[in-house]
Amino acid sequence: MEPAPSPTYSTITLNINGEKHALSVDHRTTLLDALRERLDLTGTKKGCDQGQCGACTVLIDGRRAVSCLQLAVAAEGHEITTIEGMAEGERLHPVQQAFLDLDGYQCGYCTPGQICSAVAMIEEHAAGWPSAVTDDVRPEAGPPPLTAEEIRERMSGNLCRCGAYVSIVQAVARAAGAPTPQPAQAVPAAAGNSGSDNATAGKEAAA
Ligand code: FES
Ligand code: FES
Repeated sequence: MEPAPSPTYSTITLNINGEKHALSVDHRTTLLDALRERLDLTGTKKGCDQGQCGACTVLIDGRRAVSCLQLAVAAEGHEITTIEGMAEGERLHPVQQAFLDLDGYQCGYCTPGQICSAVAMIEEHAAGWPSAVTDDVRPEAGPPPLTAEEIRERMSGNLCRCGAYVSIVQAVARAAGAPTPQPAQAVPAAAGNSGSDNATAGKEAAA
């Protein structure tokens, strides 16, 4: 006899990196756990599991999202891109290549999240989205110069326990086609420079 359908499980189809994956999940399963534990897409990392570190960042319909705070059932019907979907065959995504060329990592644990975040961040910037450190936020002003300060602020949701921030900022700038900040510029000038707690935590880690 067929087991009675469980009210806490659903069969969903997730569109990940252009491929459809059908799976039965408990409604409480996060997208992060579905990726890692059910679909073996372990490039996406679990750091804090509470939305504070950015290690689990993926793209949902091109926007960055922390997958530990997203239910898998809520991701159905959306296009999900993980780090495994960034390269085109053997050709790395320009952001991946820049991280590789400029040593934008040490242990590499935060790197998939940093790269996914940077990919969307560069598009947000090109679309003219201001950040908390943008001087002129008028739409007609267009995208602000992608300075080290802008990159640090826009990437402040992604922490790096190794403190590889100098190289990360340089890699993001290079991938965006912006002038590569020198190390002295890439290091935060002073605490309290940014509006977010994560940025502050990042600065402390980088100090
Ligand atoms: S694991 Fe998701 S934000 Fe840290
Ligand atoms: S490279 Fe180790 S946590 Fe970022």
